[in-house]
Amino acid sequence: MLVVSHINSYYDKSHILHDLSFCVKQGELVTLLGRNGAGKSTTLHSILGLVPRVDGDISFNGNSILGLHTHEIASKGICLIPEQRDIFQILTVEENLQLSVKKGSPWEIKDIYRLFPRLEERKKNGGGQLSGGEQQMLAMARALLNNPKILFCDEPSEGLAPVIVKEIVDILREIKKSGIPILLVEQNLRVCEVLADRHYILEQGQFVYECSQADFFSEEAEKMKTKYLEV
Ligand SMILES: Nc1ncnc2c1ncn2[C@@H]1O[C@H](COP(=O)(O)OP(=O)(O)O)[C@@H](O)[C@H]1O
Ligand SMILES: [Mg+2]
Repeated sequence: MLVVSHINSYYDKSHILHDLSFCVKQGELVTLLGRNGAGKSTTLHSILGLVPRVDGDISFNGNSILGLHTHEIASKGICLIPEQRDIFQILTVEENLQLSVKKGSPWEIKDIYRLFPRLEERKKNGGGQLSGGEQQMLAMARALLNNPKILFCDEPSEGLAPVIVKEIVDILREIKKSGIPILLVEQNLRVCEVLADRHYILEQGQFVYECSQADFFSEEAEKMKTKYLEV
């Protein structure tokens, strides 16, 4: 459903992504792995129209989206949970959620509280008073209320304690089960190993390896992980 074909992305004169091609199919969870600075966020941002120059083609459900404005791309149901989590610090949890409620979405606030009981406990708290894990949950919850057709998660486990990471993994699994495909950028391999269908490893803006989940523990994959990831 999401097909990225031979994209090259540039910030001014810096050529960041080199001829990247990949896809995310219906119901899949696909990971983009790679060291800091490899170009993972730039890949997500290129799809969303947030990078000044992108050549190649990107299509979603059969229609080219390259060159559209970010709001047009978002309105097709492509939803990014950014690395910085982008929540309103001065609003309460419930107010943050209410702002994202969308007519016609199968997700309502009551569904959100079922999936994220912690957010219900904290609903009267301000966004700025939440822990990192709770902020990540709130960002995920807001994305779901938007009725995404595909979800991009940029390093959701970054900076979180292992017990919270486990909760985030469970939530991602539930989201996947609900049928929403996910493109997941992660540095934490444990998270990727338990969730994904396929993996791509990025190094200096190019794919150096791709494999299915079944091959992710093969001798070759282990070599690639050692060479290109911080394991
Ligand atoms: N807004 C920007 N302007 C210029 N260069 C950028 C910008 N964002 C990222 N870069 C550069 O692009 C490269 C890839 O960055 P990024 O996609 O953020 O990597 P990752 O998400 O894999 O850590 C890095 O060299 C980074 O310095
Ligand atoms: Mg990044």
